[in-house]
Amino acid sequence: MSDSTPAPGSPTGFPTLTRRPEWTALEDHRAEGQPGLRDLFAADPERAERYVVRVGDLRIDYSKHLVTDTTLALLQELATATGVFGLRDAMFRGERINTTEDRAVLHTALRAPRDAVIEDGDENVVPAVHAVLDRMAAFADQVRSGAWTGHTGRRVRNVVNIGIGGSDLGPAMAYDALRAYTARELTFRFVSNVDGADLHEAVRDLDPAETLFIVASKTFTTIETITNATSARAWLLQGLGGDEKAVARHFVALSTNQEKVSGFGIDPENMFEFWDWVGGRYSYDSAIGLSLMIAIGPDRFREMLDGFHLVDEHFRTAPAEANAPLLMGLLGIWYGNFHDAQSHAVLPYSHYLSRFTAYLQQLDMESNGKSVQRDGRPVGWQTGPVVWGTPGTNGQHAYYQLIHQGTKLIPADFIGFARPVGELSDGLKAQHDLLMANFFAQTQALAFGKTPDEVRAEGVPEELVAHKTFKGDHPTTTILARELTPSVLGQLIALYEHKVFVQGAVWHINSFDQWGVELGKVLAKRVEPALTDGVDVPGLDPSTRALVAAYRDLKEV
Ligand code: F6P
Repeated sequence: MSDSTPAPGSPTGFPTLTRRPEWTALEDHRAEGQPGLRDLFAADPERAERYVVRVGDLRIDYSKHLVTDTTLALLQELATATGVFGLRDAMFRGERINTTEDRAVLHTALRAPRDAVIEDGDENVVPAVHAVLDRMAAFADQVRSGAWTGHTGRRVRNVVNIGIGGSDLGPAMAYDALRAYTARELTFRFVSNVDGADLHEAVRDLDPAETLFIVASKTFTTIETITNATSARAWLLQGLGGDEKAVARHFVALSTNQEKVSGFGIDPENMFEFWDWVGGRYSYDSAIGLSLMIAIGPDRFREMLDGFHLVDEHFRTAPAEANAPLLMGLLGIWYGNFHDAQSHAVLPYSHYLSRFTAYLQQLDMESNGKSVQRDGRPVGWQTGPVVWGTPGTNGQHAYYQLIHQGTKLIPADFIGFARPVGELSDGLKAQHDLLMANFFAQTQALAFGKTPDEVRAEGVPEELVAHKTFKGDHPTTTILARELTPSVLGQLIALYEHKVFVQGAVWHINSFDQWGVELGKVLAKRVEPALTDGVDVPGLDPSTRALVAAYRDLKEV
């Protein structure tokens, strides 16, 4: 696969996306109208087998999409023309494709094998990655075995990760996802919200003598994390008699910023580092995964990294027509840019994946929630969708009605497993087939619906026929694996990481910065004195000034 587009982020020579012939060809194709799913399947008996791509343990079925071979070919031409493959190769090579921060984007190096060579500038980063993984493993083993003792000599039994965004969502999601593999004798909690209730609820039943805090922050300047870590230290010292030396046995840091970690009072010996070429939302297989590694053990953690790596290699080398992240990214573009879909649902049929979609929200929406191109020009097309969803079958009894019969087109990914994991009783294991019956039934109903004639044939009175008709043609991807293992989790996350990459590349945006979250942070710092000290903050707009006054009045009553 080659392409002749300008270098990544090049300010010149990048034609406007919507004027590209490959784009207008897709517009024309859409305007011609495509057959519905009933017709598409009727016309091609092989469709259910042909529209499947396999990667690692994942079987990804995209047959229930509103696409034909022509649609897919046109989408692939768009990918080629917009330089997706060139940008992909530049990312893997360690080029500074995060142009607004002048950084390489090398999360793929975090899961590269020990003997790989991946350079940031002149430096092969892989040895440092494995050195940190080895240190993490030694530490995780100590905590798991009870050899790591607290200030009073008692073993650590509770691990509290304090972080937010990418320094929380990844480990928290993966801990839940892999709970069946965790050391059950240890307690894990994840604190992120600056609302004091979060820390309070996390520690209220814990013994400080047996509690380890992992302060996870790439920058070590994030106000929520530093505030919570400061409060956690106060809680610990109060519980252990105030000896500052206790901090060394009860606090470790995960960060890129050694100076700030030392400034906070955590011994650099107790810091596990990562690097500025790891974006926050791409960081949970770096040192940020320490809490997870303690939970599942170093071997399982490495299995998970191998799962990531497997999909990295697939994305890097698989031909376009069988490249799963490419296909998923392009299907999203088909709906978002040519069908006016505004959102994308991710619906895992696994209780263990309860936080999976919340994790993807940051991955996708912080990456592709952009409205300027890489060269600073405004985009004139839709970019990242609203990503949402919760595990099935719960969602079926909440919002699926809107997906089935509402007015919006909502493409959805259904993720399911052939076998349950964990030490379930035989009775609970048997419930798995019921779970998966729902999984298959939903995608069938969404795709093929029920026609008015089918409704009438059931004897439904004419006045109810319209209400009981299902239009169908709601597109879904079905991702099926045998069971949710650490490797499969890594495969799934890498799949979505690269899907997001593909979309950002086509939209010509930088998927790796997040300037949009800065303004709110700056304003929060400015407003705080008005709330706590009643200081008159200059520059507050009239609405916010009135709200602050109302807040202060309510606080006083
Ligand atoms: O929300 C903005 C953000 O910078 C995320 O990208 C990041 O994951 C999060 O804050 C936490 O940042 P840090 O790890 O530096 O505390």
